[in-house]
Amino acid sequence: VESKLSADAVELGPYDHYMQKEIFEQPGALANTLEMVSNASALSPNLFGAEAVDIFARTQQILILACGTSYHAACVARYWLESVAGLPTTVEIASEYRYRTSVALPNTLVMTISQSGETADTIAALQHAKSLGMNDTLTICNVPESALIRQSKLRFLTRAGPEIGVASTKAFTTQLAALFVLVLVLAKQRGQLAPAQEQELLAALRHLPAAMQHVLEIEPQIQTWAKAFADKRHTLFLGRGVHYPIAQEGALKLKEITYIHAEAYAAGELKHGPLALVDADMPVVVVAPNDALIDKLKSNLQEVRARGGELFVFADRDTHISEEDGVHVINLVDHAGLLSPILHVLPLQLLSYHAALVKGTDVDKPRNLAKSVTVE
Ligand code: G6P
Repeated sequence: VESKLSADAVELGPYDHYMQKEIFEQPGALANTLEMVSNASALSPNLFGAEAVDIFARTQQILILACGTSYHAACVARYWLESVAGLPTTVEIASEYRYRTSVALPNTLVMTISQSGETADTIAALQHAKSLGMNDTLTICNVPESALIRQSKLRFLTRAGPEIGVASTKAFTTQLAALFVLVLVLAKQRGQLAPAQEQELLAALRHLPAAMQHVLEIEPQIQTWAKAFADKRHTLFLGRGVHYPIAQEGALKLKEITYIHAEAYAAGELKHGPLALVDADMPVVVVAPNDALIDKLKSNLQEVRARGGELFVFADRDTHISEEDGVHVINLVDHAGLLSPILHVLPLQLLSYHAALVKGTDVDKPRNLAKSVTVE
């Protein structure tokens, strides 16, 4: 189903493409999504619905079902849910889960994440979970009145506004913001979030739109990099920890709109296969935040350099990776802690967008893909 708001109804304004517009709308979309949270002095489960207090109180683990970019948001959320809220979390591709014989655990909160709320596999996966007796359900969705909203007990609406570009951008970052709020609410209810920490993380969330704006300003540097990608056939994206799904999302963006083969790997897994592919013709994009894994990541990068691979590194200002022959570095901002994935995905969106412009592909309507996949 085409989004109710057709492309014609949404003005492009000063932008050339919807994807570009939607990339630059992200600070505002985040601020809108967080409005209820920003105005509150403390977090409440009611943000997710009237039944949330009771459902969250009995939740012992979480199962998240999603497709495409929304699946990558779920993968990021898994790191947060386990590390901040202490909740065991499983993430599954909806089209796999719906046909897999799986074991239902009691007190599972089944979550779906979806921009449209109409993705056939995600709806079927939710129904499958219910058929196994798991009836505590929550959806994070961008479309009110959608099927997933109607079929879930709890909900949080992202307020990204209509997303027209097939390659999802602002839906993703607003999903991450919503998921972070959920993680804080769950952590608080489980006694795992001290009031001072809650205030600190809320302040970081409120600062996020400004930080995103800052990161988007590096566009001219990315434009230069994009030229190095347009004539390549294969690329590798590396990340570790919570930024591994960000590397996956970066690779998905590139393949969706430039048709360049892009593969994402957890950097620690390099030597178990992908190193064999590395040569001067395969650019390697690295998500390199200054987090606890940075030293491990730096040694992974040396492994790539030693094989003649050309590195394109998105670092934090405090990561301290220097430019040298075959190593290109763009520094974003100082490391943003838990919220870092929301910032690090932005340059990857821009890189794909600009590589697509150089190639001349149809950015907003890539071949063979649909915005909303309502059939199996
Ligand atoms: C399609 C879109 C993707 C989207 C995926 C899941 O493949 O092209 O951008 O991530 O569906 O869509 P949903 O609406 O469930 O988030």
